[in-house]
Amino acid sequence: MTFVFTRRVSRVALLATLPALALGGFSVAAHAQRLPKTVRPEHYTLALTPNLKAATFAGDETIDLTLAAASKTITLNSAEISFKSVTATSAQGAAETATVSLDPDKEQATFTFPAELPAGKLKLSIAYTGILNNELRGFYLSKTEKRNYAVTQFESTDARRAFPSFDEPAFKATFDISLTVDAGDTVISNTNVIADKSAGAGLHTMTFATTPKMSTYLVAFLVGDFKCVSGESDGTPIRACATPGQEEKGKFAVEAAEYILHYYNNYFGIKYPMPKLDMIAIPDFEAGAMENFGAITYRETDFLIDEKTASLNQKKNVAVVVAHEMAHQWFGDMVTMQWWDNIWLNEGFATWMETKSVASWHPEWRYSQDEAAVLDGTLNLDSQPTTHAIRATADTPSEINEMFDGISYGKGGAVLAMVENYLGPETFRQGVHNYLAAHLYGNATAEDFWGAQTATSKKPVDKIMESFVAQPGVPLVTITSDGKNTVRAAQSRFYLTPGVKTAAADSEAAKAQSWTIPICFKAGAQNSCEMLARDSPAQPLKVPAVPFLFADGGAKGYYRTLYPKPTYEAILSHAETSLTPEERISLIGNEWAMMRSGRSGVGDYLNLVAALRAEPDSIVLEQALGKIGTINDRVATEGEREQLAGWIRSEFSPAYEALHPGSAEESPDKKQMRALLFGVLGNAGDPVVLAEAKLLAEKYVKDPSSVDPNLAQAALGVAAAHGDLVLYDKLLALSESTSDTAVKTTALFLTASFKDPVLVKRTLDFVAEGKVRNQDSWILLAALLNHRETREQAWTYIQQNWTKVSAQFTTSSGTRVVAAAGSFCSAEKRDEVASFFATHKVIAAERTLKQSADSINACVQLHQAQEPNLKQWLAAKSASSGVASR
Ligand code: BES
Ligand code: ZN
Repeated sequence: MTFVFTRRVSRVALLATLPALALGGFSVAAHAQRLPKTVRPEHYTLALTPNLKAATFAGDETIDLTLAAASKTITLNSAEISFKSVTATSAQGAAETATVSLDPDKEQATFTFPAELPAGKLKLSIAYTGILNNELRGFYLSKTEKRNYAVTQFESTDARRAFPSFDEPAFKATFDISLTVDAGDTVISNTNVIADKSAGAGLHTMTFATTPKMSTYLVAFLVGDFKCVSGESDGTPIRACATPGQEEKGKFAVEAAEYILHYYNNYFGIKYPMPKLDMIAIPDFEAGAMENFGAITYRETDFLIDEKTASLNQKKNVAVVVAHEMAHQWFGDMVTMQWWDNIWLNEGFATWMETKSVASWHPEWRYSQDEAAVLDGTLNLDSQPTTHAIRATADTPSEINEMFDGISYGKGGAVLAMVENYLGPETFRQGVHNYLAAHLYGNATAEDFWGAQTATSKKPVDKIMESFVAQPGVPLVTITSDGKNTVRAAQSRFYLTPGVKTAAADSEAAKAQSWTIPICFKAGAQNSCEMLARDSPAQPLKVPAVPFLFADGGAKGYYRTLYPKPTYEAILSHAETSLTPEERISLIGNEWAMMRSGRSGVGDYLNLVAALRAEPDSIVLEQALGKIGTINDRVATEGEREQLAGWIRSEFSPAYEALHPGSAEESPDKKQMRALLFGVLGNAGDPVVLAEAKLLAEKYVKDPSSVDPNLAQAALGVAAAHGDLVLYDKLLALSESTSDTAVKTTALFLTASFKDPVLVKRTLDFVAEGKVRNQDSWILLAALLNHRETREQAWTYIQQNWTKVSAQFTTSSGTRVVAAAGSFCSAEKRDEVASFFATHKVIAAERTLKQSADSINACVQLHQAQEPNLKQWLAAKSASSGVASR
């Protein structure tokens, strides 16, 4: 029951069948409109005076720009801004005042001058006012019980809500920023403070050093009362800041940042360029975190932890989020994609890099196994017919926001990892360095990246990457045995659902699709990589002389593999002894995908899980057992659920008992394993575990720090799923009384795990009445839609109370609810979901709605295809052992 707020496919929260959580937007339907390239900003001088009580701000702005040709007009981006005056001063010194015309649809303003402005340098001075909104984007208000804060979130296209600007990533400029605020308040921005002067009448003005050349979406200024803890790395001062009283919980993030900054300085061979690195937790925050240059902002729950009481997963999460945003300081901030269609250059790279630095910081966290699990989820996502290519057209703000999904993040990162595995880490690193060095403080494209890698390695990286970046979907590599030293391999596009019938899948283009794929065979501790060429029907590949042939050595391959039966059986018999945990995760995912696509039966999958009964690694086992949750939810009938639960209890309680009662000193692995088995057995209705869960939950609501944090999540989830009114009330009371954000959120989210319709209604009312922070309300809705027992009630409620419910949404929540509605499993519900959202439009959810329909169809097919197999398998099991005991 851990929620992770990332746009990646989360291994914890998602069924393989759920659609991507695409970030949507409710921005005014702005039409594709790029600014002309003839006017280029060089420098912005920005002086802002926010009024936190009135929720407004005043701005004085000067933009130094260059006109490529004489012109009477200048057009830039602006939204929800009122202009007071606009004047232009040319090099000749003549000042001209403009009239302003607004195009709210395009989020543009055009200044028209009485006479033509000459080509060359020009100063544009703008006086304006704006609003501090409640939408968690642009310059917005965040509230605590004590006071208001005024903070910014500009990616992707919302800097234009704070200052009129050339708000496209390729219009890089330098910035001089100053803010005039209450004498008792402070301001944090991208660079260090260079002046702090009284501005009369209880105000002061804080002025920040000039920034390097950067894109508008990376500018940040945060106003209010922040307290910080500090650190340092390679001479760069680091701070973690939060609302007063919480700053100590930023210490862990500072430790992470200290390690990671040094790691990145070395890895990139380019030193972090800003005078300082601030990281700030914001009480109301749409995303998980945002990589503003030198001033990274975070959702509180993705940043603040108490090291003594945090679970391993919470620590890992904070470390990964910090590592991700810090990677962006190079990939994204110093070198930026030319346009949003290449957002994967930012997000795919940061996703790949976060795993590398965190794995180096804490090898014992086994982060590469999480990475293998994420890869498996991404492959499943990309095996749906409604997927899209990594690089896709994105012109409007809505389309741009829709790009931040499991493909840009997960597949982008996975393709980079595959190329690194093929080239070797040092060659790849050199290529990364060369790419960054060539485009510092500028912009770049995908071609620039693989061009640099190809030139550095002298290997066909361009062919590999081009085939994976420009084409949608996952290759299926079919291996047929041949001679002793070679096999034949053929490729085609892999779909998770058998017989997908969509125009896209049936098109000649999709049928003819092929890739340039590095296939790495496992050869002892080494890999032996061969290239499967594009457009070759069946190609002989050299294979190493090994006792068994495994085609995903290193577990980095972005493909599924179909083996001849004897080859597959040889892998199975070597799985526990000779494969790495990452490779076992790949094997499990591959078998699951073969089952989903109708190439094997659900019984084959369950037999594989049974064979892993003694699996020593909790992440591998979690991966295997997680998919049984899907079988339980989507394949089994009510009666079969009981039998399946019985099988799980008899199969896995010995392993659990062997770990019991456990001690405080045991290894983190063991703790993780116990928590996993506790959750699995609890969900399977094990009476001993259920009783213990209840006790632990009661202990937790009295004193959250009295329960081992690793076990707490599992125990609370089980207890809430079987919980009554008494526990519900205690959790709610805890979420209201505690000052610890992590505990508050945990307790609040647990209310969505109760199954009693009366309690489900209370949770839904709570959301609809606006009692949950807008940043969180979708999470409760999505959880209720995801649970089989509460899905129907939640869906009916959402439809009947749409006006109130949708009023709670932030930019991305609507899309996430559309995605969660994809967890139904009947044709009737598919049509109902489609027709509801056809009349209750959620902007930027177009692709997500298609994916939801896809998911429902896939579920219907999965149930039809595999339920008979499950029945048969369960019958055979009970005949042979009389399960369902204990
Ligand atoms: N750049 C994004 C945040 C973002 C995305 C802001 C889309 C606005 C629109 C940031 O780097 C990011 O990816 N954040 C993730 C967390 C990360 C650890 C995967 C998020 O917010 O989910
Ligand atoms: Zn990112």
